[in-house]
Amino acid sequence: MKKNIEIVRPKNSQLSNIEQEVREGLTKPLPEIPCKYFYDDRGSQLFDQITQLQEYYQTRTELSIIQRIASNVVDRFKPEELVELGSGVGLKIRTVLSEMSLRGLLKKCTFFDINETFLVQSLAELVEIYPQLRARGIIADFIHHLDLIERSGKQLILFFAGTIGNLHPKDEVPTFLQRLAKQVLPSDGLLIGIDLVKDVRRLEEAYNDAKGVTAAFNLNILNVINNRLDANFNTEEFEHVAFYDTDNNWIEMRLRALCDTRVDIAGCDLSLVFREGEEIKTEISCKYTRESFEETVLKSGLKVTNWYTDDEKLFALCQLEVF
Ligand SMILES: C[S@@+](CC[C@H](N)C(=O)[O-])C[C@H]1O[C@@H](n2cnc3c(N)ncnc32)[C@H](O)[C@@H]1O
Repeated sequence: MKKNIEIVRPKNSQLSNIEQEVREGLTKPLPEIPCKYFYDDRGSQLFDQITQLQEYYQTRTELSIIQRIASNVVDRFKPEELVELGSGVGLKIRTVLSEMSLRGLLKKCTFFDINETFLVQSLAELVEIYPQLRARGIIADFIHHLDLIERSGKQLILFFAGTIGNLHPKDEVPTFLQRLAKQVLPSDGLLIGIDLVKDVRRLEEAYNDAKGVTAAFNLNILNVINNRLDANFNTEEFEHVAFYDTDNNWIEMRLRALCDTRVDIAGCDLSLVFREGEEIKTEISCKYTRESFEETVLKSGLKVTNWYTDDEKLFALCQLEVF
C-alpha cells in the first residue's frame, strides 16, 4: 500500500452483522436480502458493466451534469477535501478533483465503500494521478459508520448514482440524512445524485436490460450468501424480476423461484423452502421529484440550495447545506 493511502475500518466488528440481517430478512412474510450484499467483487464488476449499458441512462446522465456544474460547485464551496460515499470505481469524482486541483485546493480525498477491492484499487489509481493527494479509504457501511469520516479542512461530500434511492424513503432516508447533517459544517457542501420519476417503460427497461447484466447482478446476491454464509442457493432455480411500483415510486428487484426448492443456510442455522413463484426482495430504487425529495429532507437539518438536472429531466444532482 502506498504511503499516502490510509485504510480504516470500524473498530469493533465485522463489516456488518450478515448472519442476523439475512436471518431477519429471509424470515419476513416477503423474504428479503439487504441490497448492500450485492457488492462482492463479482457484484461490483457487474454493476460497473450495468453503468455502461445503453438502457442504463443514469450514469451517463449524472456524469454529464457533474461535468457541467463541477467548476461552479468548487467555486461555491472551495473544498480542500472530497468524500465520496459508495464510491465504487470512483470515476465521476475525478471531474470534481480536477477542478479542485486546477485551483490549487486539492489536499485530501476519502472513498467510503463496503467493497474493499474496488475501494483500494480506485484510491491507488487516484494517487497515481495526484501523487501529493492524501487518500483515505473507509471500508464500512455508510448507514452505521459515517462517524469514521475525519476532516482537516472544508469538505464536499458526494453521494452519486442514485444510491440514496436504495434506502427506504420513510424508514431510512430521514435518519441517514440527519446523521449526514452532523458531518457537515456550514461551510461544507453536499451533492446527492437522485434518479427522477419518469416514464415507467424507460425505468423498467433500465432494470431489465437486453443483455441480462442486471439479471446476473441480481442473481449474484445468492452467490454472495452462499459464499459468506455457507448456503446452497442454486441460482438456476431463480429468475430476475424488476418492476416499477407506482404507489411507492420505486423500482423493486426480486428473485422468483422457478420451482419448489429448499435452501440450507448453515451460517444462519436456517433452512427455508421456496415454492415455485415465491419471491425474495433484493432492492428498491426510489425515484424522486424535486418536491418529494425536498419533503424528505425537511427535518434533517439540511436544506436544498440548488437542483441541477439534464434537459430530459432524467436525473438530478441535489446540492445541500446545513442551516
Ligand atoms: C450504485 S453503486 C454506485 C457506484 C459509484 N458511486 C457510481 O457512481 O457509479 C453503489 C456503491 O455503494 C456501495 N455500497 C452499497 N451499499 C453500501 C453501504 N451500505 N455502505 C457502504 N457502501 C455501500 C457499493 O459497494 C457500490 O460501490
